Amino acid sequence: MKITLLPGDGIGPEIVDAAIAVLNATAKKFGFDVTYDKQLLGGCAIDATGVPMPEATVVSAKAADAVLLGAVGGPKWDNVAPEVRPEKGLLGIRKALGLYCNLRPMVVSKFTAYLSPLKTEIAEGADLLIVRELTGGIYFGEHNEAHLNAQGIEEASDVELYTRPEIERIAKFAFEVARKRRGKVTSVDKSNVLGTSRMWRKIVSEMQSKNYPDIELTNLYVDNCAMQLVLNPRQFDVILTNNMFGDILSDEASTIAGSIGLLPSASLGDGTGLYEPIHGSAPDIAGQGIANPLATILSVAMMLRYSFDLIDPANAIEAAIICVMDQGYRTSDLYKEGLTKVSTSEMGCLIAQELLI
Ligand code: IPM
Ligand code: MN
Repeated sequence: MKITLLPGDGIGPEIVDAAIAVLNATAKKFGFDVTYDKQLLGGCAIDATGVPMPEATVVSAKAADAVLLGAVGGPKWDNVAPEVRPEKGLLGIRKALGLYCNLRPMVVSKFTAYLSPLKTEIAEGADLLIVRELTGGIYFGEHNEAHLNAQGIEEASDVELYTRPEIERIAKFAFEVARKRRGKVTSVDKSNVLGTSRMWRKIVSEMQSKNYPDIELTNLYVDNCAMQLVLNPRQFDVILTNNMFGDILSDEASTIAGSIGLLPSASLGDGTGLYEPIHGSAPDIAGQGIANPLATILSVAMMLRYSFDLIDPANAIEAAIICVMDQGYRTSDLYKEGLTKVSTSEMGCLIAQELLI
């Protein structure tokens, strides 16, 4: 198993180290070999090479069986030119690997329901999967930065563009994955306003009636979906949506789970897959050893499942996390009185040890 590591910035290196401890323990238990190739992405790459995504990073990632990423960005790079921002590195590696499908599962477990800003009876038991289109839409359309127009007024614009094949391949993924879950897809758009959304809704509805009559499809406007998520998150199974709406709704959904430090993600295409926590680089707590590594460790479980079809090892990691939580260990974001507070690396070691029992 050849893994390219992209720890990135802020808390990235700490959480990736904790995840490596868990992956090494899993490899030992189940008898597979892992080799790592650490590369630069984001702000650290700008500092070292002047660009957020050096060529060596792309070469390594393309040659790897999977990529594990921490997080990129931070205030240090807030004022660099838009084309070399750390985020460009992340968007760039997604594009370079053709990772059009981003999976962001959100589960409210009994261990964390008390942390949800929603009432426990509303949040507990929620179990949804956001399927976000990742390489199209407004994040990749033409960005016309602020400039003076012919009338001397400052203006800027960004283009939202989707093609039929881009929508079909992501919708297919959502329908197929829903078949393995509870058979419900909620497709989210803004078709009362946007042309891209009207085409999105038309294509998704056509596909459902033609190829997926067994799937229950609901179409929701994104504003309504944002509201429904906090009113009743349990109504959702698979949420299918475009790049920008998926970005926004997945942050909202993560909050419902109690901590943004709990949500993993998988980004898939036709080749190498990339796995990362959905949270950012949290520069305010970087280097203190208090970041929650669970989202990254859960991303490793997704990696084993989706890139290697290693279902038992993936399940074993998730079970080890539950055991360690059950024993009362928590990083500070999940801490409450009566439990045992542990650091980022301690949490990684506890889960690794649990696997090797
Ligand atoms: C995410 C992040 C990225 C995105 C940023 C950092 C480019 O917010 O993974 O959700 O918008 O996709
Ligand atoms: Mn985001």
